[in-house]
Parts: sequence; C-alpha cells; structure tokens
Amino acid sequence: MLKEIFEQPRSILDSMRGRLVAETSHLVMASVIEFENKFKNADRIIIVACGTSWHAGLVAEYLIEEFARVPVEVEYASEFRYRNPIIKEGDIVIAISQSGETADTLAAIELAKSKGAMIFGVCNVVGSSIARATDAGAYTHAGPEIGVASTKAFTAQVTVLTLLAMMIAEKRGTIETSMLRQLMMEMEQIPAKVERALQLDTEIKVISEIFKDAANFLYLGRGFNFPVALEGALKLKEISYIHAEGYPAAEMKHGPIALIDANMPVVVIATKDSSYEKIVSNIQEVKARKGRIIAIVTEGDTVIPEMAEFVIEVPDTHEALTPLLSVIPLQLLSYHIAVMRGCNVDQPRNLAKSVTVE
Ligand code: AGP
Repeated sequence: MLKEIFEQPRSILDSMRGRLVAETSHLVMASVIEFENKFKNADRIIIVACGTSWHAGLVAEYLIEEFARVPVEVEYASEFRYRNPIIKEGDIVIAISQSGETADTLAAIELAKSKGAMIFGVCNVVGSSIARATDAGAYTHAGPEIGVASTKAFTAQVTVLTLLAMMIAEKRGTIETSMLRQLMMEMEQIPAKVERALQLDTEIKVISEIFKDAANFLYLGRGFNFPVALEGALKLKEISYIHAEGYPAAEMKHGPIALIDANMPVVVIATKDSSYEKIVSNIQEVKARKGRIIAIVTEGDTVIPEMAEFVIEVPDTHEALTPLLSVIPLQLLSYHIAVMRGCNVDQPRNLAKSVTVE
C-alpha cells in the first residue's frame, strides 16, 4: 500500500499522458471526441460505482456541474440496479471501477444499457468485464493496484474525471478559454505537488502515533473536499478497523456533533477555497466541544493553526483540483495508524480486491 501511495506522482502523470499538454492547449480524450454529439446534447449524467470509485464519482459530480453545467447524479450501483431508475436515451451513464469486475456496477451498466443510455467507463484494468461492457471510456492507467485499499486508483480516477469534465465543458461551450487554460496548467503541476504532499510522511507518522488507539474518528469536508472526507474515513476503517465517519462539515450540527468530546479526533479538510470561511466556523464548533482537531490546510494558512491541535499543510492549487492533494495525507494517516495497530494493510480482514459477488 505504501508503495502504491508513493507511486501517485507517476500514476497521475500516466493518467494525463497524451491527454493533456497545457502549453499547446491540447486536451484530448478519443472517446469523448467519438461521442462528441452525445456529450454536447446529454440532458443528464448518471454516475454509478461502489466504494472508493463512488467517492471519485462524487468529486466528478462537483466538477461536471461546475464546469460543464450538466446535471449529475451519483448512485451506488447496488441501489441503482434494484430501484427501477428512470433512464432516458439522452442520458449518459458513467461507470467507474478500478477492477472493472464489480458485480453491482456491471449489473447497473446492463440495466442502463437496456434502457438506451450511452455508457462511458472509467476503469483501470484493461480488458476487464466493465471495460468491455461499455460503449466508450477512458482507462485510468494507474498500473496494477494490489493493495485492497484503493489509493493510486482513486487519484487516477479523479484525474481522468477532471479531464473529462474539462472536455465536456469545452465541447458544450460552458467554460471560458482562460479558465480552461488555467485548469490545464494547474493540472500539469499536480504530480509535482503530490510529490511535495508525500514529504509530509514523517510528520503524519508522529500524528498517527498520538491517535493510533482512538476508537472513533470523524472526517469533515465541504465542496470538493466533502468526497475526500468520505474517502479518508473509508480508508481508515478498511485497514485499521477504527470506526470512522465522513460528513459534509455543515451537516455536523444535525447529529454527529453529539459525538464530539475531548476523546474524539476530528479530521477537517480545510484548504483555501470558496467555503474556507464556513469551514473555519465548523472548526470553531468542534473546538468549543473540545474535539481534537487535525486540520488539512493550504500551505501558509495562518488562521487554522491557531485553532487546530495539529495542522498538515498541502500545496495550493485551483479548488477543483484540491482532492488530488488533500487525499494524500489521509491515505498516509490511515496507513501509519493501521501499521502501528499491527494490521495487515495490504489484505485487510473480510475484504477482497474485486467484489465479483452481490
Ligand atoms: C476501496 O479502498 C475499497 N477496497 C472498495 O471500496 C472499492 O473501491 C470498491 O469495492 C469498488 O471497486 P472497483 O473500483 O474495483 O469497482
């Protein structure tokens, strides 16, 4: 798992290779060009996936709605397939799967296909069942992921989905050229910034030692970082067996706030973005209840360090690209806590790499 976490600067680069060159404004995904009219005219995009891939789908919802202005719904494949969903011919269904073998996702694809939707796959494993069942798609090119807990496959999915959102936006004419160029340039810098985020490893190990015996963790995020909170919590529970929940930070007051006391570690993803002021208030709410705050912030933040017990700084980027950076410390935190608790991080109990049964 650690090897795969550290491969991310390279795997993200591989996901972008041939698809993005900012200098020449080159943004190409062959399958989007092939189905250009479908993407231009789609009334709606439905994303189906499970687990970590579903979290990547949630990031895509924010990206596609923000830039391409197409309504997006993100569905657990297992729910979608059994609830007689309304699917029309003008819909595009994006199926996301690292393995390409997840039974629920495959069944959701077959259902959507039978109702006339175009199916676009985002898979890592070349030639997998899902890759073969789709009309078009884009491989994530993360390389083989062996660890059961998905890390580099997640960032590769988010990378491809970001490029996809940018391309759909370009085709539909919903993004300014200057914004598109800015995003492309920021995207190209992501591998180097991930490399910098990985240098936090020693610092995160120290924090892990302090929290390794916690019984529960709460993860909070807003906007693009809300799915990252879910992913951070999933990573921790999968490999360390600590109960963890991810929440949109503003939802905390509708229930989870009751859990906060002096023993509750609360990981808040609070990078500098459009909801920064709001999340600072959420941090204050946690602090007032003596929760132990571990904040993921943007380099140079001077406000949150005054409030949080621990602060982990990630490089600055465009807010839409933040998940690619803010997830890195959360992967490392889970990894170190799990190792310190004597858990087998590569093959956690009760889990399989591909869930090929219902
Ligand atoms: C991720 O850490 C998990 N092991 C799990 O949630 C996984 O993402 C899920 O089973 C979906 O798998 P897939 O991407 O291969 O379809």
